Amino acid sequence: MERLDKILAGTGRWSRREAAELIRTGRVTVDGAVAGSREAKFPETACFQVDGEDISGSARVYLMLNKPAGLVSATDDPRQPTVLSLLPEHLRRVGLFPAGRLDKDTVGLLLLTNDGPLAHGLLSPRRHVDKTYLVRVDGVLDEGDAAAFQAGMVLASGLHCLPAVLEPRGDGEALVTLREGKYHQIKRMLAARGKPVTFLKRLTFGPLTLDEQLVPGSWRPLSDLELEALRRAGTTGSERIRHFPQKK
Ligand code: URA
Repeated sequence: MERLDKILAGTGRWSRREAAELIRTGRVTVDGAVAGSREAKFPETACFQVDGEDISGSARVYLMLNKPAGLVSATDDPRQPTVLSLLPEHLRRVGLFPAGRLDKDTVGLLLLTNDGPLAHGLLSPRRHVDKTYLVRVDGVLDEGDAAAFQAGMVLASGLHCLPAVLEPRGDGEALVTLREGKYHQIKRMLAARGKPVTFLKRLTFGPLTLDEQLVPGSWRPLSDLELEALRRAGTTGSERIRHFPQKK
């Protein structure tokens, strides 16, 4: 949540004083209602208009989405619905894109933003931002799989995978942490172990943890603390792969 005058000034089009004047003279609406006070706080995802002109697109927006299966992680696609179809109309016009991709059938945490430099930093292969997934396979995941992941696999295609953490949780289930994000990476690594993936859910992305209050298909803006942590990760990356406590 941010003060209205700060949101308007954040577009670079008005000073805080000019923004206050626009608000005082009734020229600003938020989600269709005339704004009464410069101090009122709103999420940056609200629809802001000045003299009827939509200025929402000028603000940086950061959303945590719980991606459902069946949508592609893209901004548009000629044949299939994209994750942006889950957003209200005004948020589809502010240049949001998914920071990284989840496969169509993968569910869970996806960051949507229009902050190109931050997304670029988070996705840079040099930054090694950890991502943790809950994975289920057809078969049993064991310490042999954990050792293979830890050693860094080389797939038949020649793809070299960085060392990763796989923690078996019984019943063909595991937590997997990667520090990179190559195409179909977990599916390909586990297929190479003869264990096809049947379910994949991303639980974390750098410092962000999926908010389990978000039902699949819903989203919320990042909190200030989450955004601060994300900015740090986009600058410095993860220091090391997160190791999970062993399940007793
Ligand atoms: N690995 C995969 O195979 N798919 C995803 O969507 C993410 C990681």
